[in-house]
Amino acid sequence: MDKVLQTAGSQEALLEIHDLHAEYDTDDAVVHALNGFDLTLRRGEKLGLVGETGAGKTTMALSVLRLLPPRVGKITQGSIVYDGLDILSASPKELLALRGARISMIFQDPMTSLNPVVTVGDQVLEVLKLHFPEMSREERDAKVDEIMKLVGIPPSRKGEYPHQFSGGMKQRIVIAMALVSEPELLLADEPTTALDVTIQAQILELMKQLKEKLNSAMVLITHDLGVVAEFCDTVAIVYAGEVIEQGSVEDIYARTDNHPYTSGLFNCIPDLYTTTDRLQPIPGFMADPTDLPQGCSFAPRCPHCTERCLKESPKMYLRGNHGIKCHRFAGEEVK
Ligand SMILES: Nc1ncnc2c1ncn2[C@@H]1O[C@H](COP(=O)(O)OP(=O)(O)O)[C@@H](O)[C@H]1O
Ligand SMILES: [Mg+2]
Repeated sequence: MDKVLQTAGSQEALLEIHDLHAEYDTDDAVVHALNGFDLTLRRGEKLGLVGETGAGKTTMALSVLRLLPPRVGKITQGSIVYDGLDILSASPKELLALRGARISMIFQDPMTSLNPVVTVGDQVLEVLKLHFPEMSREERDAKVDEIMKLVGIPPSRKGEYPHQFSGGMKQRIVIAMALVSEPELLLADEPTTALDVTIQAQILELMKQLKEKLNSAMVLITHDLGVVAEFCDTVAIVYAGEVIEQGSVEDIYARTDNHPYTSGLFNCIPDLYTTTDRLQPIPGFMADPTDLPQGCSFAPRCPHCTERCLKESPKMYLRGNHGIKCHRFAGEEVK
């Protein structure tokens, strides 16, 4: 039964990343940013990708668009298939047809994504000109107005420049630019991290409203488990360049079975409904990506670490669609 479900699922998969390895060659060392990263995303699915700084989240998103910094960043192993297209062997023309049109990305630092000398309206218009050259001028103008209204900016302000806008409004424009082409997939890389807290809340509220109106699949990259719970259908937890736990929001937030790292993440969030003496931060630091440990990369910080964990990398053990990469869950169905 499970097998049938999985086959049906993979047919509608929009994005399939398998065993992806990516590294950055710097003068000092080789940074192993992705180390066997697996992920499947279905059409329309909203997935939260959670992990601490340096876990490889941005590298994964850039890899999907083949935008790793040239010469320094490279994919060394694995595959990325987007709607049947093998991204790693796609031609520049095929990639151009994907980027911005079928897949949009909101970058981690949106303030640098806007051109200071072009009006905000023209920047949104530019996206349409580039990807839909056949569209008439009237159609384009109407679309720009429509998307500006959708993100809560009056179209009457489209002749203004980015410096005339507040941080939150700039971010709305960046979101408008990402959405105006009606992409099938939106990669939102920490879209609110650079904003102050009250504006963060407004932008998240906007994203929630948009969620109802858009059919796009979405990868919401964040280190905030609270945001994911409100916004996403599914969750993937990333540690040292690997997805170490995945499942539905219900699977992960039930907190009955979790990867020890995920449990650690939950223990770091204050909970208003239960009394705990202290929050428990995860001891130690994330594995050094230039010198990854043998075996499970979380082992050096794990309260349940055994001999086996230090020697052997765990597989993803699956219970239904809830997967945990940890030897403690060995004996379950293996992916
Ligand atoms: N251009 C780069 N050159 C060298 N190392 C990089 C570069 N970009 C990212 N890295 C390193 O790759 C690892 C993963 O980074 P990143 O994908 O940005 O993680 P995240 O988005 O989860 O914070 C980190 O150790 C980071 O320092
Ligand atoms: Mg990042």
